[in-house]
Amino acid sequence: MKTKTVYICAECSHEAPKWLGKCPSCEAWNSFSAQQISKTPATLSGRSHQSIEAKSLSSLASYDENSSRRLISNINELDRTLGGGFVHASVTLLGGEPGIGKSTLTIQLAEEISKQNKKLIYISGEESLNQVAGRATRLGINSEAILFLQENNLETVLSTIEQEKPDFLIIDSIQTISSLDLPGAPGSISQTITVTEQLIEHCKKKGITLLLIGHVTKEGSLAGPKMLEHLVDTVLLFEGDRYSQNRVLRTSKNRFGSTNEIGIFAMQEKGLAEIKNPSQQFLEGRSKTAIGSIFTITIEGNRPLLMEIQALTSKTPFGYPKRTSNGFDLTRLHIITAVLQKYSKINLSDQDIFVNVIGGFKLKDPSVDLAVALAIASSFYKIPITSSLAVMGEIGLSGELRPISKLNIRLRELLKLGMNQVITPNSSELKDNEAIISAKSLGEALKAIQ
Ligand code: TYD
Ligand code: MG
Repeated sequence: MKTKTVYICAECSHEAPKWLGKCPSCEAWNSFSAQQISKTPATLSGRSHQSIEAKSLSSLASYDENSSRRLISNINELDRTLGGGFVHASVTLLGGEPGIGKSTLTIQLAEEISKQNKKLIYISGEESLNQVAGRATRLGINSEAILFLQENNLETVLSTIEQEKPDFLIIDSIQTISSLDLPGAPGSISQTITVTEQLIEHCKKKGITLLLIGHVTKEGSLAGPKMLEHLVDTVLLFEGDRYSQNRVLRTSKNRFGSTNEIGIFAMQEKGLAEIKNPSQQFLEGRSKTAIGSIFTITIEGNRPLLMEIQALTSKTPFGYPKRTSNGFDLTRLHIITAVLQKYSKINLSDQDIFVNVIGGFKLKDPSVDLAVALAIASSFYKIPITSSLAVMGEIGLSGELRPISKLNIRLRELLKLGMNQVITPNSSELKDNEAIISAKSLGEALKAIQ
């Protein structure tokens, strides 16, 4: 079979006949790599559709109920994120930056699965038996039932699982497994894709539940995970700031459930601990009153999460004021600053502004805007903010506060946490509650905190 070389973008799979520095489709830089594809056109096979037998169709109602059986890991935050555990014989990709805790979560999972009398094989292409066993011992994991193999060769992996017939297979990481029969260096896109396809084909045939681990760099590039997303059933992303202990597990794709749920963990000395009640934890860490620090509430799936936003304004030593943001979109910070300046007459043109979301979280929920604006105002005017106040609202370009989604879930959580002042733009079924203060504009919200 003749092959030809094409160049494929790791970000968006755009195909080009020659190497390009920048992808014309998704504008990613340095994302192209060579891949060999078959050159034989379909017509050369000499077969037309008339010579191929048609297949009989099945009714959708005739499905096998066993195919949706789930394997509960008993790590609740993980099971919830998956929509109720791993579906039998499904393929899950766990992606995340190096050092975020993928192998730690995986070894904890391996213990839970093997406890249930399931045969589990952990294949590591990057760590030796001693390294993985050492980690397991430090974490106090009973590793007797966890079967381990250090291997980089795909064919060896396939024959081993053929022989051992595990129920659950873990590959840490997919980028370290390669085949000598395939073109391309180990870890290259073409290798990674073909290796993944072969592993998936094998595991689906044998009814093995497969967990693949994949490294993603900060830019989300590197050979892999993005290109692998369409091959697997579920994609889990493990996120967080390496220097803070909080970790969030998200689904970016799930063929068996919603992608709304998240799992929250804390990386501790003894591995990853589940955080069942994150809001309570943030509340306890905060002093009664603070300048430039305010609570808001975001929603992940159906889960309300209390968040603390801090801001600092300080006279700029140079001509051009600096805006820095950690965990909050910088463009939105510029917009909020401009709205504060124009409609609330706060002169921020000679002020550096720093915004920080406590705990290393990255917030995309627009309802956080008001907390950022009020934290900036609090720092600028040195107004102390009490820890029993929470605010929410998206800020519009003319200084109005726009209604936010899932208000009742948020309000109930805030009241449960003991907040006795909640500023919100929408009216709600809880409007008779005296803790709830309505504000239709940024100006009204500012008055409420003074
Ligand atoms: P690891 O799971 O190896 O990350 P990944 O597989 O995603 O590359 O964990 C990385 C970091 O986690 C490591 O730098 C140390 C830290 N860590 C802890 O803080 N506590 C622990 O119990 C363990 C095992 C690791
Ligand atoms: Mg690892």
